[in-house]
Amino acid sequence: MRILALETSCDETAAALLEMQGPGVGSVLAEVISSQVALHAAYGGVVPELAAREHLSALPLVVDKVLQQSGGTLDTVDALVVTQGPGLKGCLLMGMGFARALALARGLPILGVNHIEGHVLVPLLDNPELKPPYLALVVSGGHTEIVLVREPGEYELMARTLDDAAGEAFDKSANLLGLPYPGGPRLATLADQFAARGEPSPFTLPRVALAEPVFSFSGLKTAISLAVKRSREALATDETLQGALAFTIQEAIVDALAIKVKQAVERSGIDRVAVTGGVSANRRLRARLAEDGYRVFAPTLPHCTDNAAMIGWAGAYRLFRGDGGHGLGDVRSRWPIETIGVTP
Ligand code: KG4
Ligand code: ZN
Repeated sequence: MRILALETSCDETAAALLEMQGPGVGSVLAEVISSQVALHAAYGGVVPELAAREHLSALPLVVDKVLQQSGGTLDTVDALVVTQGPGLKGCLLMGMGFARALALARGLPILGVNHIEGHVLVPLLDNPELKPPYLALVVSGGHTEIVLVREPGEYELMARTLDDAAGEAFDKSANLLGLPYPGGPRLATLADQFAARGEPSPFTLPRVALAEPVFSFSGLKTAISLAVKRSREALATDETLQGALAFTIQEAIVDALAIKVKQAVERSGIDRVAVTGGVSANRRLRARLAEDGYRVFAPTLPHCTDNAAMIGWAGAYRLFRGDGGHGLGDVRSRWPIETIGVTP
């Protein structure tokens, strides 16, 4: 089954073509991701209206490109899969409208996919040795949750953030340090460079040790803001000091994630941890989870951040179960993964 997948839930316009022989069996023939980072950088964050407009103009281009790369045409496509939620409503509508029109014109079945399900299942695409059940730590700019994947389609929520997402915590901290948007990867680079010096950092930040299965980054944000204020002048002139603070921030965020993973491992008895979403690109996070003794899996770098291959891959499980072809329904800007349930 040849699947054309589209992803437009936030600031990446992505298309992928997959050739699937069965659920979880197949490969990505071609994929294209058009990032809007440069467009939103001037505003310090994603501007939903601009993002939606950009998706509209980028969609035909990424689809053309993916078909060209694979050497195929639309005639070879058997099904369309598109992100239906969660995400920015206007952005989701662009992808869904485009997919709907294509499906109608070509008489193809169409299926809406949960974006988080894409993040949660894509480690299976990139790590054939990974088998369910496993814990998926979803860490992106919009989401931070731990999901127990019993089987593809059968999910249990183990923890979710009360406020900011881990990516937001990285980006907002980076912003306080004066790094340009999106600062997460830049902060991580500074932190890793400081760590390589092997010196202790003069900064300390609190750990939020909530017993409940929830994440919270708001207290940390306040503490970072105070630390920056206290050392503002020194930070502006001393690059090593800036690196030290970046290091301490990264350790605090990674610690907050690792503590909740530990609780989830203890509660579930499952020690296979698949880290996924934009922040899963963070090297310190991966290393820390491995140090804690789990078997750690991660997607390839292009599949850490938003992409369409993960949407096609997640959609394939459903298409082979007979979903699809029943229309698309409404956009679902809020769509918690644990409410997906098992398709009978
Ligand atoms: O999954 P993603 O591409 O988009 C959302 O769905 O949000 O994640 C983007 C987030 C941003 O907050 C970015 O700063 C963060 O992932 N990120 C990182 C790293 N690479 C990307 N954060 C920390 N360390 C990194 N290496
Ligand atoms: Zn995402």
